[in-house]
Amino acid sequence: MKAVRIYEYGGPEKLVFDTEAPEPVVSGDSVLVEAAATSVNPIDWKIRSGARQKDVPLTLPAILGRDVSGVVRSVGANVHNFKPGDRVVALANATYAELVVVDAAVLTHVPDGCDLVDAAALPLIAMTGDQLVRVAVRGQRDQTIVVTGALGSVGRAAVHTARKLGMRVVAAVRGAQLAEAAALGVETLAIDDLAAIGKLAKVDAVADTVGGETAAALLAKVKDGGTFGYASGLPEGTAEKYPAITVTRVLARPDASKIREFADDVRDGKFVLPVSRRMPLREAAEAHALAERGGAGKIVLLAR
Ligand SMILES: NC(=O)c1ccc[n+]([C@@H]2O[C@H](COP(=O)([O-])OP(=O)(O)OC[C@H]3O[C@@H](n4cnc5c(N)ncnc54)[C@H](OP(=O)(O)O)[C@@H]3O)[C@@H](O)[C@H]2O)c1
Repeated sequence: MKAVRIYEYGGPEKLVFDTEAPEPVVSGDSVLVEAAATSVNPIDWKIRSGARQKDVPLTLPAILGRDVSGVVRSVGANVHNFKPGDRVVALANATYAELVVVDAAVLTHVPDGCDLVDAAALPLIAMTGDQLVRVAVRGQRDQTIVVTGALGSVGRAAVHTARKLGMRVVAAVRGAQLAEAAALGVETLAIDDLAAIGKLAKVDAVADTVGGETAAALLAKVKDGGTFGYASGLPEGTAEKYPAITVTRVLARPDASKIREFADDVRDGKFVLPVSRRMPLREAAEAHALAERGGAGKIVLLAR
């Protein structure tokens, strides 16, 4: 089958478009999906570069990718809730390929009215944003939460979940992005402006997708007893300086019903995740180069 594989770690050029990669095998509890699309997530290029070898060890050659949308080709003997032809989406593994095997327990249907290709943009970012707010931050109605990188993919999902929970949301973005962030219908904060951060009153929670010194500056703005959830990274030793704050890293896990909820909200126009580009799978290397430079938005890779 066609798939994009890495044979060794390194730059975007290490992504090789193979036309004769071995097809994955369906077991009793899984489903074979003819992929329509996958999407590029920052973790893909962090793994490709070798930076995550310790926590995500791979057997090379390996197929990268976490998101898949497509059509069911066949199902395992124990699978009764999917049939060939169903439109589906999942948070899975080895998704930079035209065929992807997915455990039926993490697969969900794409609702009518939701674009099958754009559905591939959802799984990882929706799970991460949602679990940042519900699990890491333990967000509650009427609490104030700052969401950093709120115009990024995980940030948009975190804002969406926080609003659904009835939280007061402050979207923390670059100064140049304030107007765009205000269009999300929430309050805004420029996080490249130290004076603006200084003026911010203490908040109940932060959902951070940016990391680094920005995250460290915002941790100081959380009330004692408050929560700080993060998806990216914190400077060494930062969390220890704030023993009165619960600091939790999110590690996104699959939740099929929650992916379906996000897909329903996309269909209903309640959640908007802009897809900036659709590129063919064979151009994965170009897509990674663009994504790593930053500011590229969400890139979807077309599997056929
Ligand atoms: N732990 C997990 O399970 C998990 C899962 C998924 C993602 N993640 C991590 O979460 C992070 C976000 O992922 P994503 O898919 O949302 O990426 P993304 O779509 O590129 O979003 C990142 C956003 O943050 C903004 N940003 C970056 N640095 C900034 C800074 N210093 N000040 C203000 N804004 C800044 C970016 O703005 P520009 O576009 O202008 O640069 C962009 O809007 C990544 O580090 C990713 O690895 C973790």
